[in-house]
Amino acid sequence: MNSPLNDAVLDWYGVHARELPWREPGASPWGVLVSEIMLQQTPVKRVLPVWHEWLARWPTAAALAAEPSGEAVRAWGRLGYPRRALRLHAAAQAIVERHGGEVPGDHAELLALPGIGAYTAAAVASFAYRQRHAVLDTNVRRVLARLVTGVEYPPKAQTRAEVTLAEGLLPLDPPTAARWSVAVMELGALVCTARSPRCVDCPVLERCEWQARGRPAYDGPPRKGQTYAGTDRQCRGRLLAVLRDAPRPVEKGALDIVWSDPVQRERALDGLIADGLVDPLDDGRYALPA
Ligand code: ADE
Repeated sequence: MNSPLNDAVLDWYGVHARELPWREPGASPWGVLVSEIMLQQTPVKRVLPVWHEWLARWPTAAALAAEPSGEAVRAWGRLGYPRRALRLHAAAQAIVERHGGEVPGDHAELLALPGIGAYTAAAVASFAYRQRHAVLDTNVRRVLARLVTGVEYPPKAQTRAEVTLAEGLLPLDPPTAARWSVAVMELGALVCTARSPRCVDCPVLERCEWQARGRPAYDGPPRKGQTYAGTDRQCRGRLLAVLRDAPRPVEKGALDIVWSDPVQRERALDGLIADGLVDPLDDGRYALPA
C-alpha cells in the first residue's frame, strides 16, 4: 500500500513524465549511468544529443574504457564541468576490471567505483535495477523541502535529516520505490521548479506544507548565483574547446587568442592541467589527455 501522497505523485508521473531514452525499458545500465553523470549539472535538453552520440559510439563500458580518456573529454562537447568525462572514463575502466564490463547492480559496488558518489549510486541502482534507495538530487531535495518541511529551498549542503526524510517516504515495494524516485525528480523538473513553481499544476498542492504556510520566502544564507560570463569556468571552457576542436596537439598561441586576460588564462590552464583535462607535451604544445 502506498500513501495517498505517493499515489498522487505516481499518478501524475504516469500522465506527465517526459519520454527520455534512458527511461525506456530497454535502456542499459551503462546508458543509465552515462545519463546520470551528464544530467547532474546539465539540463535534459542539452544532454540528449550528447547522450545519443556517446551511446552510439560507446554502447558499453568496455568500449569507452578501450579509448584514451581524452576522447571522452572531446566527446563531452559543451556539456560543461568536463571532469565528469574523466570520471566516466575511470568508472568504465573499473567496471571492466572489477565487474567484467557489466555495470554492477549492488549499491556498495556502485559506490566503490571511481567518481561515483552517493547520488549516482542510488540513481543507477534505482533506475537501472529497480531497487529501493533514497535518490536525492537538487530537484528532489527542493520538492521535499517544500512539500514536507515547508520551506522554499533545501539547505545548501545535504543533511542527514533530508536522507531520513526521503527514506521514510519511499514506497516499500522496490520497483514502485524506483518509480517514485524518478516521479519526484520529474515533479521538481516540470512543476516544483526553483524560481517559478507552477503550483496550480501540482498534484500534491493540498498536501504541501510550504503552500499551507502561505509560501514563505526563503530566508537562509545567500544561494550561489549561476554567473558564468568572465569566470574562470568560462575561460576553462574556451581553452578546452580549442583542444576538442583540434585534431592534433596545439601551440600555446592557439590557446592565448581565446582569452585576453593573461593572468586568468594561465590560472585556468594550470587548473585544467592539474585536473588531468589537458596534457602539456614536452615539445611545448598542448593536447587532450592520452
Ligand atoms: N531521469 C532519470 N534520472 C534523471 C535525471 N537525473 N534527470 C532527469 N531525468 C531523469
